[in-house]
Amino acid sequence: MSKGLFITIEGPEGAGKTTIIGMLATKLKEQGIKVIITREPGGIPIAEQIREVILDKENTAMDSRTEALLYAAARRQHLVEKVVPHLHEGSIVLCDRFIDSSLAYQGYARGLGIDEVYSINHFAIEGMMPDITFYFDIDPEIGLDRIGQHKGREVNRLDLEELHFHKKVREGYHLLLERFKDRIVMIDASQSLEDVFQIALSKLVKVINHS
Ligand code: TYD
Repeated sequence: MSKGLFITIEGPEGAGKTTIIGMLATKLKEQGIKVIITREPGGIPIAEQIREVILDKENTAMDSRTEALLYAAARRQHLVEKVVPHLHEGSIVLCDRFIDSSLAYQGYARGLGIDEVYSINHFAIEGMMPDITFYFDIDPEIGLDRIGQHKGREVNRLDLEELHFHKKVREGYHLLLERFKDRIVMIDASQSLEDVFQIALSKLVKVINHS
């Protein structure tokens, strides 16, 4: 059994996940808590290489099932090579995206089916689900607008999808909230960064204190 806590952060583009994860980790470290930040797809060299293939804007021919399988493959390698060892050392692992991204993006928005995508991911993760998931909810029009203002941010193949696709991603997440009521906690990410951070921090502290 692992001793750490596996916490995943989810949400559509522009929800502020990555910034907030950094702020949460800094806060926990100040309190002497062992914490690491990582991300999907990527986090370790093999998975970062898979990420390049998935997100390359030139790969317009990529089939949806290929896409889902590549995310699952990157997930598997990242889990065994990085997440599990850190959990065994007793760290809190804050992971920017995990299985729910595949269920919302590939399962629902791409139309492959949430159950179908869950089944290939079940093979990949062997039941290693997060202890808790924070879902940052935002209207995709606001989220995409925020991304547009980040001039330095790399635009990837999924960012180029139409607004309709991003709306479906959000609908997909809302279905997952129903389905995994005990695991997924929603945070309204349309508020200011500082407010979102404070809400996320107080929820995170509660989870740590009860673990
Ligand atoms: P990234 O630049 O990390 O986006 P973000 O900052 O929004 O997290 O790119 C990851 C992209 O991959 C993002 O568009 C979401 C998508 N994705 C999936 O479609 N399925 C998945 O399983 C994962 C992990 C990500």
